[in-house]
Amino acid sequence: MRRRYDDLSDDDLIEGLLKTFPPPKNPTPLSISRTNDISLAPGSRDQHDGEMGKRGESRGRLHPESLARSRELTLQPRYVAPSGVLFEGDCLDYLLRFKSDLVDTVFADPPFNLGKSYGDRTVDSRTDADYVEWCQRWLRECVRVLTPGGALFVYNLPKWNLLLGAYLMGLADLQFRHSIAIEMKSCLPIPGRLYPAHYSLLYFTKGKPKTFRKIRTCRHCGGEIRDYGGHRKAMNPLGVNLKDVWTDIPPVRHWKFKSRERRANALSTKVLDRVVEMTTGPGDIVLDPFGGSGTTYAVCESRGRRWIGIELDFCDEIVDRLSGGKLKHHRNDDKVDEPHVDLFGWPSAAD
Ligand SMILES: C[S@@+](CC[C@H](N)C(=O)[O-])C[C@H]1O[C@@H](n2cnc3c(N)ncnc32)[C@H](O)[C@@H]1O
Repeated sequence: MRRRYDDLSDDDLIEGLLKTFPPPKNPTPLSISRTNDISLAPGSRDQHDGEMGKRGESRGRLHPESLARSRELTLQPRYVAPSGVLFEGDCLDYLLRFKSDLVDTVFADPPFNLGKSYGDRTVDSRTDADYVEWCQRWLRECVRVLTPGGALFVYNLPKWNLLLGAYLMGLADLQFRHSIAIEMKSCLPIPGRLYPAHYSLLYFTKGKPKTFRKIRTCRHCGGEIRDYGGHRKAMNPLGVNLKDVWTDIPPVRHWKFKSRERRANALSTKVLDRVVEMTTGPGDIVLDPFGGSGTTYAVCESRGRRWIGIELDFCDEIVDRLSGGKLKHHRNDDKVDEPHVDLFGWPSAAD
């Protein structure tokens, strides 16, 4: 009789994993990138690291062998960057092998089950029940590898996030923080429905949040000037508190923001700037199990966060982005309230 995953002990699981994915006999050599050439504005790296302490430097590079839940389980990365490691394959295969309490933030942007063609190996047309069950499986692993107080973000269509949110609410470890609506600028009307105008970003933490840094957005951009009842002077000069409705995320249309080899589904770096700055400090580890074009990893590299990435079909494009450094980040005028950090400090489209 097939045993349920939840009934397996760690030893059973490791034995099963070793049978399914035996260690490679002749491991292929890793491609090691050259040094990070995403430069920061003068002084901004010092200011950033100085204010957040020396956490990043003291934690050092990520070693793939230190990520596995047992010594017998080998983890062979496809690429090692200055601050992260990229694994090629199915995210569940890797998630199951990672040790618990490993990462500080998880950001997941899976395929939305819309029957799109991604790469050759991605399945994007499951039955509704299969899709939800598949998501629950990788979510459960994401929660396990999250450190206490760590943050989990799930980006999806509102339709799926309703169901996934309900599942996450039922996990004893997790605390609901926000359901963030991200306005989408370009979409087609659907006959007989309201015009769909937002994606959903769920934000949970594993128990009480260990890091929550307040983001302030520019009061003069994106229509943020509101009626403050004549008390404008009393407003914080750094800007207004970030809301749970993000209307200022630019679409990723121009080639300077996305790979010509991978045209679809790249997120704006501004989404990841916020996720990373809000919930991590320098040296913390961010896991993104659906790498896509590597937006999360590029943002982590530029902000001194460590990262673990997994991608099924587009590792070449991610390696190209991280080692070639040609793609731009979207302009971002956000500030972090405490400590006061100017986030607008790297090459953007405006430069
Ligand atoms: C919506 S895209 C992610 C886009 C990404 N956030 C970005 O900004 O570029 C989803 C990605 O997940 C990858 N993918 C699909 N199924 C996967 C799986 N089982 N394991 C790992 N990656 C998978 C697809 O190849 C696709 O690139």
